[in-house]
Amino acid sequence: MKALSFFFPLITIFCALPSPSMSATESLVYGGCSQFKYSPGSAYESGVNSLFTSIVNSANSSPYSNFTMTGQTPEDTVCGLFQCRGDLNPSACFSCVSQAVNQLGTFCMKSTGGALQLEGCLVKYDNSTFLGVEDKTMLLKKCGPLVGYDADLMTRGEAVLGYISADDGTYKPYRFSGSGNIQAEAQCVQDLDQGECQDCMKDAIGQLKSYCGGAKWGDMYLAKCYARFWEGSADPSGSGYGKRLRRGQWLLLGENIHKATVQVLEGRGKGKERKGHSLTLI
Ligand SMILES: *[C@@H]1O[C@H](CO)[C@@H](O)[C@H](O)[C@H]1NC(C)=O
Ligand SMILES: *[C@@H]1O[C@H](CO)[C@@H](O)[C@H](O)[C@H]1NC(C)=O
Repeated sequence: MKALSFFFPLITIFCALPSPSMSATESLVYGGCSQFKYSPGSAYESGVNSLFTSIVNSANSSPYSNFTMTGQTPEDTVCGLFQCRGDLNPSACFSCVSQAVNQLGTFCMKSTGGALQLEGCLVKYDNSTFLGVEDKTMLLKKCGPLVGYDADLMTRGEAVLGYISADDGTYKPYRFSGSGNIQAEAQCVQDLDQGECQDCMKDAIGQLKSYCGGAKWGDMYLAKCYARFWEGSADPSGSGYGKRLRRGQWLLLGENIHKATVQVLEGRGKGKERKGHSLTLI
C-alpha cells in the first residue's frame, strides 16, 4: 500500500466532482488518458465529441457497442467502445456510461485516447485501432485482507472461480457464480470473440487466484476482461460488497492506450517530478 499516497491529489480531484446520484455501479475502478493531446478545434476533436454522443445514445439499447469516426485522414480517425457489466439493466447501463463519458471528457481533456472503468461499465477511445484486438495487459490488481485458514471458504472460492472460468463452448461475455458467502464474476469486452474472451478470462482468473488466493476479495482487471471475487452479499449494493473500500486510480498511459506501457501518475506532493512506475498495487 505504499503507493497510496501518490494518488491522493488525484483522488481528491475525483471526489470533488459533483456526483449527487452516483451509485455503487458508478464508482471509479481505474481510469487513464493517453499522454498525447489533440489541438482544440481540430477534426479529431469533433470526432471525439461525436463518438461520445454516439456512445451515450446507444447505451440504453445495448450492453456493448463500438464506433469508428472516420476522419479525412487516418490520423483524424477515432475509435471507441463501451461495455456494460452483463447484469446491468438498460437504464443502469445508460446511467453508468453517461457518467463515464462525462468523467472521461473532464479527466482526459484533449487527450487522443482514454479509458475509464467504473464498477458497472467501461468506456474507451483511442486514435488507433484497438477494436477486436485481444489485450491482456494487466491494468489493475487489488486483493483484500487474508481471511486466515478457512477450508470451507477456500473450497467455495475455488468452486466459484472454477465455475466462471469453465468453457462450455458458448459465448458468455459475463459470468457470475456464488456459493454461500462467496461470489465471483467475470466480464469480457464484447469485441472479443468466444475463443479470445475465454482465453482472456482464463488468464484473469488464473492471476486472480495466484495473487489474491486466501484473500477476502480480489480484483483483476486486464485491458479486455476482468475477474473478481468477494465475500459477502451477491447484491453489489448490499453491505458485504459495499463495505469494500475502493479507491479510484488514474493511470498515465503510453503512446497508445492499449499498449503495455501503463504507468501510475504520482501526485505532486511526492516530489517535483512526475515519475511513472509500473502498476502493481496489492
Ligand atoms: C495517435 O496520436 C499520437 C499523438 O498524436 C501519434 O503519435 C500516433 O501516431 C497516433 N496514432 C495513430 C494510429 O494515428
Ligand atoms: C463493431 O460494430 C459493428 C456494427 O455494430 C459490428 O458489426 C462489428 O462486429 C463490431 N466490431 C467489433 C470488433 O466488435
